[in-house]
This record gives sequence, C-alpha cells and structure tokens, in this order.
Amino acid sequence: MTATASTRKKVELLREEIRFHNNLYHVLDAPEIPDSQYDQLMRELQTLEAEHPELVTPDSPTQRVGAEPIAAFGTVEHRLPMLSLNNVFSEQGLAEFHRRVTEKLELVEDADIAYMAEPKFDGAAVSLQYENGRLVCGATRGDGTRGENITHNVRTIEAVPLRLLGKNFPSLLEIRGEVFMPRAGFAKLNERARANGEKTFVNTRNAAAGSLRQLDPRLTAERPLDCYVYSVGVVEGGSLPDRHSEILDQLQEWGLKVCPERRLVAGIEGCIEYFANVGERRDSLDYDIDGVVYKVDRLDYQRELGFISRAPRWAIAYKFPAQEELTQVENIEFQVGRTGALTPVARLKPVFVGGVTVSNATLHNMDELHRKDVRVGDTVIVRRAGDVIPEVVQVIADKRPPGTRRVRIPRHCPVCGSHVVRIEGEAVARCTGGLSCAAQRSESLKHFVSRKALDIDGLGSKLIEQLVSSGRIKTPDDIYKLTAADVAEMERMADKSAENLIAAIKKSRRTTLSRFLYGLGIREVGEATAASLAAYYGKLAGIMEAAVEDLQQVPDVGPIVASRIHAFFAEEQNRRVIQELIKDGVNWEETEPQQTARSGPLDGKVFVLTGTMQSMTRDELKARIHALGGKVTGSVSKKTDYLVYGDKAGSKLTKAQNLKIAIIDEDGVNELLLINK
Ligand code: IVH
Repeated sequence: MTATASTRKKVELLREEIRFHNNLYHVLDAPEIPDSQYDQLMRELQTLEAEHPELVTPDSPTQRVGAEPIAAFGTVEHRLPMLSLNNVFSEQGLAEFHRRVTEKLELVEDADIAYMAEPKFDGAAVSLQYENGRLVCGATRGDGTRGENITHNVRTIEAVPLRLLGKNFPSLLEIRGEVFMPRAGFAKLNERARANGEKTFVNTRNAAAGSLRQLDPRLTAERPLDCYVYSVGVVEGGSLPDRHSEILDQLQEWGLKVCPERRLVAGIEGCIEYFANVGERRDSLDYDIDGVVYKVDRLDYQRELGFISRAPRWAIAYKFPAQEELTQVENIEFQVGRTGALTPVARLKPVFVGGVTVSNATLHNMDELHRKDVRVGDTVIVRRAGDVIPEVVQVIADKRPPGTRRVRIPRHCPVCGSHVVRIEGEAVARCTGGLSCAAQRSESLKHFVSRKALDIDGLGSKLIEQLVSSGRIKTPDDIYKLTAADVAEMERMADKSAENLIAAIKKSRRTTLSRFLYGLGIREVGEATAASLAAYYGKLAGIMEAAVEDLQQVPDVGPIVASRIHAFFAEEQNRRVIQELIKDGVNWEETEPQQTARSGPLDGKVFVLTGTMQSMTRDELKARIHALGGKVTGSVSKKTDYLVYGDKAGSKLTKAQNLKIAIIDEDGVNELLLINK
C-alpha cells in the first residue's frame, strides 16, 4: 500500500515531534513529557514505517541502530587535521600561556582577554559531519589526519542528532566533540559484566573508546554513551558567528549537546577561578574529566595566534594531577579490621598520583584480589580519585616478571595468630581472635572514641595503638580508668597534652544512647541503625534484653541485623564492658520507649511477609502494620497470626499452610489495614 500524502505528512510531523523531545531529553536535560508518552510517539512512528517501508529514511529517529554489523572500519581523511592541545599542570604554566597570547596579540599582559573555559572530558574525540543538516559521517581522531569511520556507532548515541534542528545551518558542517561514558552508566555496565563473569573496563575513557570501536552497532547501542561537542572543523555553504562562545550557543540551538559547565571567563584571574571551581565540583559531576580547557574566544585572535606544530596557540589544557599512574607491587599484606575482616593491601613503590604520594593501595577483599590477580613484583595501575582510598585498578600482564605466585589467604591472623576463616559465599576472610586480637582491639577502640561515637578529642590512632600494645587498655572501659601519668608515659606525650586528654575523656562520659550504641561497634549497626534503636527503645536495658523478633520491629532492622544485635548483647564479655562503662560514669538521658506508644487495632498481632508486593515495598507494608500496633517477624511459627504473601512466595507459605495459619495476599492485607484504620 503506497502512502497517502496525509500519511507522509503524519510521519514527518511525528519525526519532528520526536526530535524535539529527544533534544529536550538527551541534549538539554529538560524533558517536557513523561517517557511513556515519548515511547508512544516512537511506537506510532514505528507502526507507520512498518506499514510503509518506502517512507523510512536514514535520519528517522527509528533508524539509530543499523541492521547489520560492518565487516571492518573504513578510513576517514580529516580535511582539517584534528589537533591536540598543549598541557600545563600549574598556575605558572597557565600564566605563561596567557603571557604568550597577550604578547603575540600585542596586548598588555593584564589584558582581560575573554577565554571560553570548559572541562576537559575524559573520553574519545569524534568528528561529526552534517550535510544539509543530516549526519553523514562520524569518525575517530585516529592520528589526527586519518581516523576510522564509526558512523554506524555514533548514530546510536542519543545525544548526537541524526538531523540538525532549525534552519540556516551551513550545507557542510563538521563538528568535533568528545564521546564519553557517564560514571553511573559505567558502574552499571561493569557490575553487569562482573555478574556475568565478563571482562570489566578499567575506566570510563576505555569504556567509551571501546564502545565506539565495535563492528556491531547493536552492541554500541547498549552502552550508555554521551557526547559533548566543543568545536567546529570544516564549514561550507554558510557561516558561523565570530566568537567561539557564540558558535557553541549556535550548535546547541541546532540540537547538539554542549557542556553546561562552559563559562566565558576574563583574563588569567578568571581562568584560575574557573579551575578552582570546577576542581571542587569534579567529584560531583556525573562524568570523568581530567582538567580544564581554555580557548581564546575571538576567532580573529585565534587566526592571528595560529598553530605551533600540532596544537593551537590559542588554546591550552590545564590538567589536574594524574589520577592513575603505573608502579610496582613490593609486597601484599593483610590488615585486620575492627570486625576481624582481613583486607589485602598492596605495598607499592611510592608514586605521585592524584596530587599525593601513594605507597599503599587497597585490594578490597580476596575476591577482588583474585579477580585482578595482583602478585608481588607486578606492575600495576594505581588510581587515587578525590578523597577515595587509593586502589589497584589493573595489572599490566606483559610486565609480570617470571616466578610470581598467586596470593593466598593466610591461615593465621598476621597480628594475633588466631585461625582465619572464610565463610562459604562471603568475600571476606576473618580473624577468629575477637578482642584477644590486638588489631581488632585497637580498631574497636578507635571506633569507640571516633567523632560520631564517644568523640574523645586527642585520642588518635597512634596513641591507641601504643596504649593497646603496652597493655594499658584492652576494652573501652579501660579508657575511663586511664590517669594522666599513664598517658604521659607514651611516646611524644607531654604532661600538658596528657592532662588535656584526660579532661577530654572525662567530658566524653556525657553522651547519648545512640552514640553509645554506635560506639559499641556491633556488626551492621551504623549510625542510622543506632539512632533507630535508641529512638525505638529509649533505654539501653530494653535493647539488651530484646529478642531477635522484637528487634525486627525497629525500622531498618532486618533479621540479620537483629541477630547480630542479639548475639552482641548475649556475650558475657560485652555485658561486662557495658556495666563497667556505666560504673565509670558514662551516661545519657533515657527516654520512654516509642514502641509502647505504638498500639492500635492490630495490637499483639504477628505478621510474616513473604514474596514481592506490587503496590508497596515490604518496608512500607511493615511500617503500616507497625503503625496499627502489629508486629512483623521474619519466620513463621505457631505465634504467627497472618502470613502475607506476594509474588514468588517461598517456603514460608508452605510452612504457614502446614501450621494452618491465616494466609492473605496483598489485597487481603490492604483490606485488613483499611478496616482497622
Ligand atoms: S578542544 C584544537 N575541548 O583533548 C583543540 N578538546 O588533547 C581541539 N578534549 O583530542 C580540542 N575535552 O579529545 C577540546 N573541552 C574540550 C575537550 C577536548 C576533551 C580532548 C580532545 C582532544 C584532546 C586534546
């Protein structure tokens, strides 16, 4: 059936509407319609195109992913070379760049030249060629003169329009920019690869470049790629504004994605301020950047400045200190944490990375260590990003010396010699020494005195380690028995600081129940859980005596956390320490338990939930049951009043049937909650 004029028109209008919303969503990050409505428009277009295949054009929004993989990449000659940028690494380097610019332009050195500043994106450079507004070619930078034809892949990136919006674009327009992978998408991609036992990408740059070099565009289409454009190459059959900043604004109007972080800054001061500002926000951007790029804004100045070898004189990259460097692994040791967890740590040949000298890097746990197969003697990539602990990213396989060996979990704790166990299915291996292990003891004490716990000023890590190894303190209560004389005996401890410390210890005795609970270092009990427990029970005694099922009534406390809390307070040694602490004067204000206040029509009724609910999460349901005075427990027993089941209900359902307990589904519980409201 050939399409009528009105169908043609309809198809054209649909495409225009989709392009418009595509631009709002992917380029301007300001969608106006819900996804469902967008999907509806796409479906309508797909249906019409399926009915009238002769109407399908390559620039239709339905045609982003071509049908077949290509056999090999073709070559694209860049009519204007794709240049690189010169780099500087300091304010001084930047000042020299500015001086060269002003000198060549014969301006005074403090001239407030306008520079267009934007982040230096850490991805892969691309050239996008538009003929009469249609994307006809996408290419990599290659050697700057010749790149690879990656049109089939570039077309799959939603931020790259297949057709320019509006009018008045030059008949030939080559645009340049950077394809990158946002951090969130990168993390998900790697998570999935890990779950499937596939290879992960080392960083977002490799992931972006790798994704662009796929022969099958369907694979590229599955990768979360994005693209910011930052300059133009060939322009024919039309003209562009005569300032770089205005060109970028124009490109945005034509539907290309330009970085919203870009700013026009004045002179060297403006450049420095911008660098500091972006540097501060770097970690909160959702894509990786490795510096800032400045370009002289006026194109007549750019022409006058020209090029030097392969880089423009009118632009410069001010790079952040490298976040990744190569170095050698000198040793692999195991650190013992507060809960006995053994963390493998690589001792490295010191290397300057991310602005500091790094000589240790975490290997997280045994699974990570084995997955990366890091060995003593290996050359590795170390990364230190922001405030994150330095980590070993990858081993350079080619550089492995002969005779290296896989690292094994030690059988005995390197600190106390106790057995090390690794529970089946857990990534973590643990020392079984408990508080008899000096490492666990020191780490627990450090936790107890930390800012969010008892907050003892002046009792730092080194001092705790000394006090522990000299036998002065073993458990938290020992801290309150210290005298100024005990402390003054420690290395580098003047009498005055010893007295200050004793005063701080004394002051810390007045605390809150929530800080105290957190400070005890019960596994899985972080700040938030400690606060919930304190609010719910009001009194320590209530928590110490609570049964596992009772503890699960506290918001955020599930069966595992509840059993950890219960086990902690069941331990005689822990009860003794608590008693001692209270005897030593540690105190807080106790309040009335909230739990008693929460009574209602479902008072005393015990619910067990199983399976997935549709209309609400399990936590929401739990909260609603609590609000009416009911209890929710983890396992079915004779005491259970109702079993509520959702999708994929498990063995609890069978058990409830056997015990002849009332079984209700989601609608049933909703009704029950409504009646009893
Ligand atoms: S402008 C002639 N702006 O850095 C100047 N480049 O070392 C052309 N890059 O290959 C480049 N972010 O891939 C420019 N905001 C930005 C950039 C940027 C990243 C990359 C680009 C280029 C390399 C040059």
